[in-house]
Amino acid sequence: MEKVIQNAITFVKNFFENECSGHDYFHTMRVYKATLQIAEKEGGNVAIASLIALLHDVDDIKISPNTSANKDNARGFLKANGIDEEAIDLICKGIGEISYKGSESTSATTIEAQIAQDADRLDAIGAIGIARAFAYGGNHNRVMHNPDEKPRLDMSESEYRNHVSTTINHFYEKLFNLKELMNTQTAKQIAFEREQYMKDFIARFMDEWEGIK
Ligand code: ADP
Ligand code: NI
Repeated sequence: MEKVIQNAITFVKNFFENECSGHDYFHTMRVYKATLQIAEKEGGNVAIASLIALLHDVDDIKISPNTSANKDNARGFLKANGIDEEAIDLICKGIGEISYKGSESTSATTIEAQIAQDADRLDAIGAIGIARAFAYGGNHNRVMHNPDEKPRLDMSESEYRNHVSTTINHFYEKLFNLKELMNTQTAKQIAFEREQYMKDFIARFMDEWEGIK
C-alpha cells in the first residue's frame, strides 16, 4: 500500500498543476497529513483514509464536472494501481460523502471517510481557512465585504452551490458551521481553537472597517 500512496501523491501533484482555486496540491497534502494525525488517535484503516484524502478533490464537481458522478479520475488511478474493486468502491463512496452541502451536510458513513472529511473541513478554517476563503473570493471576482449584503443561513445544497456572496459572508454561511459538524473528538478540539482565531479575525476586520484602530 505504501507504494500506492506514494503514487497517489505524484498523481495529485501532476493533476493539480496550475490550479489555484483553493483546490490544489498543497490543500490535498494538508488534508492527507491531517488525516494521518487524526487516524493515529481515532483508528480506522489508515491506507483507506489516506487514499480518500489524497483523491478527494480529483473528481470535484467544480474542477471536473464530467467525472464527478462516477469518480472516474480516482477510479482510474486506483484500478491502474491494482486496488481491488471492493476497496475502490469503498474509497469512492467515501470521496462522494465528504463535501460540504449546506444545511444538507451529512456525516460520512465509515470511520475512514469521517476522518478525511474532518481533515478536509479543518483545512477550511483557521489561518489557512481565512487565506483560502479570500483566495477563492479573488479567483471568483467577489468583493471581500459589503455591509448591505447579509449572510444567508440554512441554505440547501443547491442554494449553497449557486449562491454568490461576499467572502465575509462565507464565514457565516459555511466556516462557522464546521466545528459542530466534525465527526471526531480529535478534530473538534482543533476546530475549537481555529474557530476562535477566525472570530478574532472577523472582529478585528469589522473594527478596521469602521475606522482606524
Ligand atoms: P472543499 O471541497 O475543499 O471542502 P470548497 O470546494 O467548498 O472546499 O471550497 C474550497 C475553498 O474555498 C474552501 O476553503 C472554502 O471555504 C472556500 N470557499 C468556497 N466557497 C467560497 C465562497 N463563496 N467564498 C469564499 N470562499 C469560499
Ligand atoms: Ni478539499
